[in-house]
This record gives sequence, C-alpha cells and structure tokens, in this order.
Amino acid sequence: MASEVSRKILVTSALPYANGPIHLGHMVEAIQTDIWVRFQKLRGHTCFYVCADDAHGTPIMLRAEREGITPEALIEKFQQQHLADFKDFLIEFDEYHTTHSEENETLVREIYQQLQANGHILTKTIEQAFDPVKEMFLPDRYIKGSCPKCHTPDQYGDNCEKCGATYNPMDLINPISVVSGQKPITKSSQHYFVSLAEFAPFLADWTAPNAGHVQPEVANKLQEWQQIGLQPWDVSRDAPYFGFKIPETENKYFYVWLDAPIGYMASFKKFCAAHPEIEFGNYWSQESNTELYHFIGKDIVYFHSLFWPAVLKGSGYRTPTEICAHGFLTVDGEKMSKSRGTFIQARSYLNHLHPEYLRYYFAAKLSRGIDDIDLNLDDFVQRVNSDLVGKLVNIASRCAGFILKGFDGRLATELADAEQHQRFIDAEKEIAVAYEAREFSKAVRLIMALADSANQYINDKQPWVVAKQTGRETELQQICTQGLNFYRILAIYLTPVLPSIAARSVDFLNVPSFQWQDIQQPLLNHRINQFSPLLTRIDPTNVQAMLEETQILVEKEKQMTAANAFDPPLADEITIADFNKIDLRVAKILQAETIPEADKLLKLTVDLGAEQRQIFAGIKSAYDPEQLIGKLTVVVANLAPRKMRFGTSEGMVLAAGPGGSELWILEPDVGAQPGMRIK
Ligand code: 2FM
Ligand code: ZN
Repeated sequence: MASEVSRKILVTSALPYANGPIHLGHMVEAIQTDIWVRFQKLRGHTCFYVCADDAHGTPIMLRAEREGITPEALIEKFQQQHLADFKDFLIEFDEYHTTHSEENETLVREIYQQLQANGHILTKTIEQAFDPVKEMFLPDRYIKGSCPKCHTPDQYGDNCEKCGATYNPMDLINPISVVSGQKPITKSSQHYFVSLAEFAPFLADWTAPNAGHVQPEVANKLQEWQQIGLQPWDVSRDAPYFGFKIPETENKYFYVWLDAPIGYMASFKKFCAAHPEIEFGNYWSQESNTELYHFIGKDIVYFHSLFWPAVLKGSGYRTPTEICAHGFLTVDGEKMSKSRGTFIQARSYLNHLHPEYLRYYFAAKLSRGIDDIDLNLDDFVQRVNSDLVGKLVNIASRCAGFILKGFDGRLATELADAEQHQRFIDAEKEIAVAYEAREFSKAVRLIMALADSANQYINDKQPWVVAKQTGRETELQQICTQGLNFYRILAIYLTPVLPSIAARSVDFLNVPSFQWQDIQQPLLNHRINQFSPLLTRIDPTNVQAMLEETQILVEKEKQMTAANAFDPPLADEITIADFNKIDLRVAKILQAETIPEADKLLKLTVDLGAEQRQIFAGIKSAYDPEQLIGKLTVVVANLAPRKMRFGTSEGMVLAAGPGGSELWILEPDVGAQPGMRIK
C-alpha cells in the first residue's frame, strides 16, 4: 500500500425511485458499494460516494396525485425515509441529493444543448396510447388487457406474463388504462430522440470485453443488443409529467431516464459546492485522470453501458471507468415476493436486527459477477452467529479480560509468536486484491481462515489455565497480547464490512483510528480500554418478527391498492326481464362462524322467512362473526347451490368494496322483514 499511488475515485450507486421504500434488494447494492468505498478510503485513497433519489416520472406524479399531495412533497417524504434507512445500515454517502434539483436541471439542459449542438438530437412524430379521460399519454405499464396471443386476461401493455409474447399496448384485447379504467385511444405527438447510430463504433469499442469497462458476461449481452441495431432513444415525454421541461418546447419534458444518471453528476456538483477544494471538472471533464465507477443492478446495464456513455461522449464529458453490475437478491432461494412475504423493507429489517449482520452476510456472498445472491434466513442466522460472534468477537473477549484484570490494561512489550503474527500481515495483499476486485466473499473467506487460526492459537495456549499458575504472568500477558493483535488485524481487514464494530474496536484498543497500513506494526506496551461485548448472537425470533412485520406491511399495501383501484366500467345493459331472473331476498343472519381451514370464508346461517339456508361468504377479513349475528342483509336466493370443501353454499350475500378489510355487506332499511323480495 505504501508504494501505491494515491488514487482519486468517484463512486455512485443507482438512484432509488422516490415513490417507494428501500428494501433489501436496494441494500445489496448499497452495501456492496459502501464496502468498496470504505476499502478505498481505508487504503488512503481519495474516494467519494454520491447518490440521490430518482425523483421524476409518471409513477411519482400519479402516486402524489393519489395521495392528494404535490410530487415535491412526495419525493421529500421518501428522501427523508431513504436517508434514514441508508444511515442506519451504516451506508456513508459523501452526498445524497435528489434529481429534482437546480444542479440537475442546469446540467440536464446543458448536456441536452450540447447533444443538440453536436447534431445528436432528432425529432419524430410517433403514435402512442392516450387516456382520453386523464388526458395523458400512457406508458406501456399503464395499459392492461388480454394477451393478443394467448388471451390471458389482465396483462400489461408490453408483454404477456403467461406466454411471454411482446406486443404494442394497443394490440391488447379490450385494453384499458390502469389510471382511469377507460379504453385508451391512439394519438400522435412529436418526440425528441438521441440518435445513437453515430455512437455505434465508439460503443462497440467501449463495451468490448477487453476494454474493461463492463464485466465479461455483460459485454456479451451488450454485443447482442448492438448487433440488433441501436435505435434512436426517445428522451422526451408529453405533459402531464413530473420532470424538467425541455427548453423551447411547449409541454415537453425530459424523460426520467435521461435526467437520472445526470443526477450522479448533479449530486457531485452539490458536494463540490460545499467543498471548494474539490473540483467538479477534475472528475467529469474529458481530460480527467480520476476514476469513475457506477454500481448498478443487472437490469439497468442497457441504460448505463449504452445510453449513458453515448450521452457523455456526445456532450463532451468523460465516460465511466467501469460499470459494476450485480445480480438480484433472492430470499430463501426465490425471487423476493410480496405474496410469499419476502419483500423485506430495510426498515422492517432494522426494527429487529443489527445492520452489521446483513452487511457481513452479503459480503460473505458477494463476488464481482452478476449471479443473484441468496439471503437464506437459516443460513444467515447460523453463519453470522458462528463467524462474527463465535469466531471474530470471541478472539477479543477471550483475551481482553486477562489484560484488563491482570495487567491494568497494558499489553506486553513483545509478542509470544512473532512468526504467526507475520502470517496475518502477509495475508494483506491477497485480501486487498480481493476487495479491490469486488470479490468480497473471497476476502471474507481469507479473513475468517485467519480468525480460525487465531482461535486455534488461543485454544492451544489456554490462557485461562496459564492465568491460574503463578510465575507465568509474562507468558499470559504475551499470549493475550498476541490474541488482541490478531483481533486488531482482523478488525482492520473487516472495517469496510463492519464499520461500527471497527469504530468500537478503535475505542477499546485505544488507538486514534484504523488505517490499512496500521497492521504492519503490532500494538505493544500499550494501554487498552474497557471491553464491552461488540456484538451479540442473532436470536431467530427476531428474524421471525421481521417476517411478521413484512407480512403486515404487504397486507396493508394490498388494501391500499385495492382501495385506490378504480371501479370497473359499467357492465352491459340488461332488460328488466334479465333483472327479474335474479331473486334477491332480505335475510336475517342467525349464526356466523369461522371455518378454521378457510382464510376468507365465514359460514352463515340465514333466515329467508320460509326457510333457513347455509351460505359461505368471503367476508372474514372484514367482519368478526359476532358483529353479524342478528343483522339483516341481502342474498341472491336463486343461485344454484355450490359444493365447497366445507359444505354446500345455498346462496350469496351481497357486499361492496375492493376486498380485505374494505368490504361492506348490504343492509335494508329498518322495517324490512326476512324473506321479502327485493324488486
Ligand atoms: O432502476 C431504478 O431504480 C432507477 N431509479 C435507477 C436509476 S440509476 C441512474 F441512472 F440514475
Ligand atoms: Zn399471452
């Protein structure tokens, strides 16, 4: 390290959208980036980590509207939450801004004007689906209908989840706008495009596997895409839209994906304004000799490895040193899913578990590839308890007591085994190479092998036995000094992963800070401070509590979505004769019971005047049985009986509402009697 030239590095992670909470998927990336940045800082390099909220686009505009607040208020609310979540996961940004900022607007305009001046902007009139009620153009995800190929209902406007077909939204059978529930029309409008064709030779070189800007597996995918041909990229959207207005246009806005990566620059611009000694141009100009890394998920490599370098090149800026893509997070081997209750929010984790457990677990699994990483919850508990508590922290707690009690906190003047200590120092190079290459799992493996040998050393030397024998005091002091020096090296190696344990180790070892090169000199004849446990074991009931909280949040969200869903358009007209076919009767609920095996159903016994009936009604989520007994309601009395697992249902109770706890049964006005026909 001493011989390594000091580097200047700027690092970003992808900007989270400002309309939803941070979840553990985001944390894979933030933790990966933070570990890498902390490693660079620990090595003495100048390294800045900037990020921001991605604040523009249609979903943000519509969510704000649904919540009855301005988009500005919505993005502010989420930014505060995001900041708190990242902070509590010990993610140390040098700057965390928002793309809805003055710095960003200025940069976006300037870059766009440069692209225009350099002849890279085209205009074209295109046809798009338009919601005639909301008077807005609809992104594909805002149109639903039946798949034109396999006829599966309820498919999005771009592709079918059942058969995989891709199509234009207006090809859907019976398309409806998700925003209003109405049928979209086709409307044309002029759009602005970045012409990418002229960047083809540059991008072919830039994305080549040996250029080193992207991982090899990403390079292959990018080559496939380039072979298909780089189409002009549509960077404008029509009003209403939440974003930056395109200068000299009426009602045209920059597409969120143009202004989002420019948000990396804007965030750094803000940082530079507060730190005049750091020059923005030093990191972004074409002549820059600094390094620039973007950590992203594999789903957005297209934007970062094709569009973004083209935009930077076409507007006269430097291009990234490397795009560092990672895989997705799975939980217990499966995609994170709301219905499986594994879509875990950062806050739900933090409410029950220590952030360094997850930082360690992710580090132990991360490599530089783009394979998905799995959070196996049993393995998580087992691995963290065994490695962090059973191995790492144990080294310090096995030795500190003897030094504090027997030697007034003073370490020996010599190590017991300088040779073994040297082996801990010699591991430094391989560990550093692994960190640098983002092979964190390898770094952790190497460090934990050292932890094993440190524990083995203590087992062999048995300081607890030595402590009982008079005349062996110096030996005891040296053994424990050796153990604590092992611990110190391990804690320095793990500082990027476990920053809070490292900070508390700095206090306990009574040193000014940890730097990578500190490992070279052992800590001898030095007074340490009181030792308090650095980490406790994970109690599996806390994992359970986190999952329960996740379940509750998912349920709440479902109800909110249902409550916000538009009511479907009116059904086709019927005649009075059609209506008369339905025999609706007033019914009195005599009994109501839950059925243990059924999640949604209550078993009702109703009085229809002339007879009693048994009806299974799907209203368990909205009513307790006792609330219903004695109530009058309305049932369809001539519905064919339906055999169910629990018995036969002899009619149907009428209720309105989107579902969940939002369901209301019908009640006639006072005076109506059981059995009366409703007409
Ligand atoms: O995919 C996403 O979550 C985007 N909000 C990431 C944007 S990263 C960058 F380009 F700004
Ligand atoms: Zn289909």
